Amino acid sequence: MKLHVNGTEHEVDAPPDMPLLWVLRDLMGLTGTKFGCGIAQCGACTVHVDGEPRRSCVTPVEAVAGKPITTIEGLSPDGSHPVQRAWAELDVVQCGYCQSGQIMTTVALLAQVPSPDDQDIDRAFSGNLCRCGTYQRIRAAVHRAAELGKA
Ligand code: FES
Ligand code: FES
Repeated sequence: MKLHVNGTEHEVDAPPDMPLLWVLRDLMGLTGTKFGCGIAQCGACTVHVDGEPRRSCVTPVEAVAGKPITTIEGLSPDGSHPVQRAWAELDVVQCGYCQSGQIMTTVALLAQVPSPDDQDIDRAFSGNLCRCGTYQRIRAAVHRAAELGKA
């Protein structure tokens, strides 16, 4: 089937019910998206489909054939996306495992709400777990990314 990933069309040979996460990581080598729980509870596997955040661990690949899919690798070729810059500036990452999901959630939030308040942020991130507890830095970085996105 044909998948549109990060602006490019790819032909993949996958069973229709294979989770999108498996296709991205194992068949396409896009390992920036992480496997955490596999049951839509942690947010580590968050990608965008049609610009909306989606848990790729529970999304059958056939459901997204032909739709625009964006992974963390598609944000920028060099880490220059405003959200990536804010993350680096505020040193958000601890172990890093949850962070591509956190960043993808941020990008989707800022597309909907360019200047989110703390409540907007907490609501958007309620499904993104970080066992290192970087939540305060994530919140600060979302505010910083909002500023950088307007600069
Ligand atoms: S791995 Fe998909 S939500 Fe946890
Ligand atoms: S940075 Fe370690 S789980 Fe979030």
